Amino acid sequence: MDSQDDSDDRRIGRRTFLQGTTLVAAVSGFASVLSDSGVAVPVDTVQPTDRSVFTADTERTDAVFPQSVASGGPTPEGVLLWTRIAPEEYQGGPVAVEVGWDDSFSEPVHRGVVESPAIMADHDHTITVDLDGKLSPDTEYAYRFIYNGTASRTGRCQTLPDPNATIDSMRLAVLTCQDYQNGYYGAYSHVAEENVDFLLHLGDFIYESADNQYRAPISEEYPDRNLELPSGHDLAHTLADYRYLYNTYRSDPHLQRALERHTLIAGWDDHEVADNRYWDYDTDSPRLPSHPEGDDPDAATRITAAAIKAWVEQFPARIDYEPAEVGAPGDLHERFRLQRRFRFGDLTTLVLTDERLFRDPPPAFANGDKPDRTMLGTDQRQWFLDAIDDAETQWTVWGNEVLTMPLEMGTGAIGSYLNRDAWDGYRDEYRTIMRHLARNGTSNFITLTGDLHTAMAGYQRTGYDPFSDDERVGVEFMTPAVTSVNLSEIVLGIDDIDPFDVTEQAVTTLNPHIEFFDSSIWGYSIVEFTGDACTYTVYSVDKSVKESPRKQRHETLRVPAGTTEIESVER
Ligand SMILES: [Fe+2]
Repeated sequence: MDSQDDSDDRRIGRRTFLQGTTLVAAVSGFASVLSDSGVAVPVDTVQPTDRSVFTADTERTDAVFPQSVASGGPTPEGVLLWTRIAPEEYQGGPVAVEVGWDDSFSEPVHRGVVESPAIMADHDHTITVDLDGKLSPDTEYAYRFIYNGTASRTGRCQTLPDPNATIDSMRLAVLTCQDYQNGYYGAYSHVAEENVDFLLHLGDFIYESADNQYRAPISEEYPDRNLELPSGHDLAHTLADYRYLYNTYRSDPHLQRALERHTLIAGWDDHEVADNRYWDYDTDSPRLPSHPEGDDPDAATRITAAAIKAWVEQFPARIDYEPAEVGAPGDLHERFRLQRRFRFGDLTTLVLTDERLFRDPPPAFANGDKPDRTMLGTDQRQWFLDAIDDAETQWTVWGNEVLTMPLEMGTGAIGSYLNRDAWDGYRDEYRTIMRHLARNGTSNFITLTGDLHTAMAGYQRTGYDPFSDDERVGVEFMTPAVTSVNLSEIVLGIDDIDPFDVTEQAVTTLNPHIEFFDSSIWGYSIVEFTGDACTYTVYSVDKSVKESPRKQRHETLRVPAGTTEIESVER
């Protein structure tokens, strides 16, 4: 099934969901949060009766469109376009959408309006417009929204190539982990200028905290990035809290510029809801172990549903919805499916997974495991394996949230996995996946990972015993955090040692499958796929500089096509 088919499935899913909302309207609790009549689903435009809706100036652009614009959900024949109208500016009436070849809009490609019922306070005055079927493959467009005589800033969007087209290269900007309170988004100012096809975000787009708790003792203060949640709590509790966080994060000018320039493919991780979250299959509810109400199944469900609703409002993404059956309102698994895939012509397939909504709790003890402990859940795991097996492109890419390779910080009896919240807590399932891929002869398999606030590269294997016949399956590239606290920030307070060297040496000695490890930088990576190679370049950007931080190329590595070898590229 190619990306076009995926898109068709989603359309059916959306329609079914909308019909289902009438069924679940009477259901209380989280179901009503998630399925209000104001569910933020992508909408089609209609032809305007009054052409004057396209007459506009830009005098009040930022007042009317304070979060600017974004695009996402690319298909070969469309994208989703997103904006938010400031609630105090919205007085009813249609919002117009204009798509052109350039920012003059002198030759409109598409013009339409969204009628006012689609812009309801129920979804925080966000609008997502679906242009699937209206645009051409592998094409860049300019777009803008117009409301009441004011035009938004002009964005640029990009469609996918035709699934069968021959593609020479495809470039992704890869980002993750952008704690607003722990630095500035200078990385995004450079991403905006990068010549890439799409922006891939691997999660922790927001952090649920307003009290700066995800920082190190030596972290710099950023008083102009203080936050105050509407609920008054330190951690998000309500839909209003999550909306506030997204709207504040998206007020950042560098982030806005990058989302205006590039079409977004967004995943998520734990902090879009709460730290280290997982699913408790005994109570069939999410669990938020770091949240004061996170052990209460009802509260954790309510908080997760609120966070999901805010996510759906904020991201132009083709997410599957399915209606819950009356009497089974607690099944978030049936109602929100983040996992999806994208095909970039004959060159690359990207398979994006959800590693939070279906995962078992991590093991309580280091090296602990149980054979059926799952990160993906049974259904998603099968979907994932099928998607990899079915990929007909040269490269197959896993858009992945948490580190898949083992990261051991000791040997023998004292050996311990550092981060059991990552795949180190779910080793048996990882082995199952890798063995499946090896058995099926999967080649040119690249995994792009976020979460650990570190730049890293290494090998995915069926096993890591040096005396066995375990084999390499693929290569994992981790992108550094935009701002979130990294290892160097945590240990820099120790005098007389260079923590970067010590950490990298320790990690690569104890983990010979890891070729490159650096937790001393912040920034982003550019990953390019061609017929010859996959090339990963990490850029570091100083997060403490607000306006114009320099970027530095920090490392470039490549994997020649047909191999599982990481090669260094001379700088
Ligand atoms: Fe993070």
